[in-house]
Amino acid sequence: MDNLSQYIEWFRHSSSYINAHRKKVFVVLLTGETIAHENFSSIVHDITLLHSLGVKLVLVHGARPQINTALDGATLELRYHKGLRVTDPDSLQVIKQVVGSMSIDIEAQFSMGLANSPMHGADIKVSRGNFITARPLGIIDGVDFSLTGVVRKVNAAAIQQQLDNNSMVLVSNLGYSPTGEVFNLSAEEVATEVAIAMKADKLVLFGPQRGVMDAAGNLLSTLSPTAAEQVLGNISDDDEQARNGVRETLAAAIKASSKTVHRCHLINFADNGALIEELFTRNGNGTLISRDHFELLRQATIEDVGGILELIAPLEAAGILVHRSRELLESEIDYFKVIELEGMIIACAAIYPLDEESGEIACIAIHRDYQESGRGDHLLRALEREARRMGLSKVIVLTTQTAHWFLERGFEPLPISELPIKKQEMYNYQRNSRAFRKTL
Ligand SMILES: CC(C)(COP(=O)(O)OP(=O)(O)OC[C@H]1O[C@@H](n2cnc3c(N)ncnc32)[C@H](O)[C@@H]1OP(=O)(O)O)[C@@H](O)C(=O)NCCC(=O)NCCS
Repeated sequence: MDNLSQYIEWFRHSSSYINAHRKKVFVVLLTGETIAHENFSSIVHDITLLHSLGVKLVLVHGARPQINTALDGATLELRYHKGLRVTDPDSLQVIKQVVGSMSIDIEAQFSMGLANSPMHGADIKVSRGNFITARPLGIIDGVDFSLTGVVRKVNAAAIQQQLDNNSMVLVSNLGYSPTGEVFNLSAEEVATEVAIAMKADKLVLFGPQRGVMDAAGNLLSTLSPTAAEQVLGNISDDDEQARNGVRETLAAAIKASSKTVHRCHLINFADNGALIEELFTRNGNGTLISRDHFELLRQATIEDVGGILELIAPLEAAGILVHRSRELLESEIDYFKVIELEGMIIACAAIYPLDEESGEIACIAIHRDYQESGRGDHLLRALEREARRMGLSKVIVLTTQTAHWFLERGFEPLPISELPIKKQEMYNYQRNSRAFRKTL
């Protein structure tokens, strides 16, 4: 194929990605090293392209090498403990100047509109604000980290408002406490927490190497969070990957993808076009960390009974779920759906038909380590689809501790006297569950 045909082929192929990415929230970490690299202007152009394709972008920037140079110049001591900078008040003054000036320079780069540049006609609005609330890291091993902080809260609603306004949002590695103090944070942590709070579709982390390598130096193009954790554990202090900051970005990707972020991408800032290749081609460019590939919501089978029993045992013990024997579960397994992650059952739920029009949702349980990441929602939607497939038009649920979760998902309170007769007859007055119903 000649160049033109290849180009046309690629452009056609990328349309499915363009549609998939439109209106999605991407959080992009621009480390200080990324900004300092000669390729940064191309990265700015590629980010501009994403914006013009309708992607909602939150850029988080760091400033580590720039801060080091400035502190060195000011003959201020660089103090670290366990790889974290100790920020004293004098250092913070310098850090504020460096970070503030970098934020302004980044804004300026996105404001360029020269007719002969790829930015022509881009007209990008960049918003900044006090989106990050921080608290002090405190004292560790007797070392007072002073004004080094950690993220306490991300104002996701305020960021979303800017994105809805078609602005790009720029967040730095500085956070503010309710007492009015400024804290120096790790940009990796800020990017991770912003991505989690925004339930971002993607977290893109730029680094000085092409993703993550195995021990033989081969690129690992896709990893589950669990596999990524193993790789992280095998990176030693004298490993080149450790010097390249892979441990920090990998840990960020593991945390984000274990929570609410679907896909985390580690890519090389020195590689021209890496962002476009990663997002618009099947094979990508760097390393993708995602649970989506490895996590499966499916119909339960008899082999899952052991895993389900293990999952629900603590909830039965706490009185949240009604006890089910192995025999009962085996006989009812066809009503169950499970979420399997790398061979482990991490969630389950059942839908039992009650009469011609209604079914009961029961035994919905997400493993403690995996709660509050949208899986409950995902399972509930699957059960509702299943109920419709069974020809049912209503689902009911009886619950003691999860009433509001169901109310927020369209269920309405139902008097016990209006439960289907079969259910009324079995109602346990001692348990005193509340009933809810949803019309599908
Ligand atoms: C309740 C449960 C199924 C929710 O699933 P999940 O995957 O953790 O939740 P999701 O990610 O879909 O939703 C998270 C939201 O639900 C809220 N939530 C979690 N448990 C809740 C509860 N018991 N009551 C009200 N809201 C709850 C969270 O605060 C979060 O709110 P936010 O989106 O405003 O931050 C899960 O937490 C669970 O298994 N709990 C223990 C078993 C249980 O109670 N089962 C129900 C028996 S009827």
